[in-house]
Amino acid sequence: MKTSSLISITALAGASMLMLAGCSGGSGDGGDGGGGEAATRACVILPDAASSPRWENGDRPALEKAITDAGFEADIQNAQGDTSKYATIADQQLSKGCGVMLLVDYNGAAVAVTTKAQDQGIPVIAYDRPIEGADYYVSFDNEEVGALEGQSILDGLAAAGKDPASATVVYMGGDPADGNAKMFHDGAVSVMEPAGITPAQEPPGVWDGDKSATNFEQALTALGGKVDAVWVANDTNAAGVITILDKNGLTVPVSGQDASVAGLQNVLLGKQTATVYKPFGLEADAASDLAIKLLNGETPSVDKQLDDGTPYIAVTPILVGPDDVQQVVDDGNADAAEICTDDVADACAAHGVG
Ligand code: GAL
Repeated sequence: MKTSSLISITALAGASMLMLAGCSGGSGDGGDGGGGEAATRACVILPDAASSPRWENGDRPALEKAITDAGFEADIQNAQGDTSKYATIADQQLSKGCGVMLLVDYNGAAVAVTTKAQDQGIPVIAYDRPIEGADYYVSFDNEEVGALEGQSILDGLAAAGKDPASATVVYMGGDPADGNAKMFHDGAVSVMEPAGITPAQEPPGVWDGDKSATNFEQALTALGGKVDAVWVANDTNAAGVITILDKNGLTVPVSGQDASVAGLQNVLLGKQTATVYKPFGLEADAASDLAIKLLNGETPSVDKQLDDGTPYIAVTPILVGPDDVQQVVDDGNADAAEICTDDVADACAAHGVG
């Protein structure tokens, strides 16, 4: 990711704060009775529950805790993969009053909400996924996520004694409507291409395990059943791909991200080379700190920016292979009992997970 080091965003944040002060002063901008209460509420919209378990299991509790521990109210809703529901939730939140909004985009729905919030003097933090026009962007370093995935594919090929330059690698990216998908792809390519990898097949990107399975099955058929590795953008998609590899009796390097239960199980079973672990609490804390500063009328300063100039806080992701799974459990971000079910129990024992 291109970033410029230490930029001052005082002017931008200052402008937001002036508007925020107007909103919290009871001008009614926040809607019916936003008034003084508005500045105490952080309004959050999550995208869905299906693309990844992270949103409900990881992000929601972490955001809720950080915001309420700081003495503010957290209004956290989930758009359930529905852009009109996204807009309706936003209108309801704005009419109750918001001092700040933290939005995870879903198919571009957050762009209009951002404009609406800013028109009411409410600063917007793009959480995890970039949103055009947002005041801030807080995420993991998405190109680094992709680079770690690419590295896991190279590691897997090396372990299998295969030359990456002649390997048949299928690329299974994320939904292009999510601005992160391109960053994951760019990061992965930045590592795989110098090793000589080019995509043998590249079906359309999705965030959907079932569709990934279907798309991968078609790609595999087109390749006459031959594949050496599959770069997959996240664990949910990887699980779909793995059902097809299993069906065809194939075990090849597969990447993923989110350290979901399914992903960690596949890593332990040797069906997925690694998952990129993004301790969601770190991301939620970074976003909540920013939100709390804004709610408190402070002027946050951020040391990076996206190519379009949006101030950007990037948290560092971690690559997790079978011997690192216990770290995720120790951090409280996965439950050993949930991971180590019947067919995974032996692998858990072998890799010290419990
Ligand atoms: C991305 C996010 C990933 C993954 C994916 C599917 O934007 O960064 O962690 O969850 O969406 O929801």
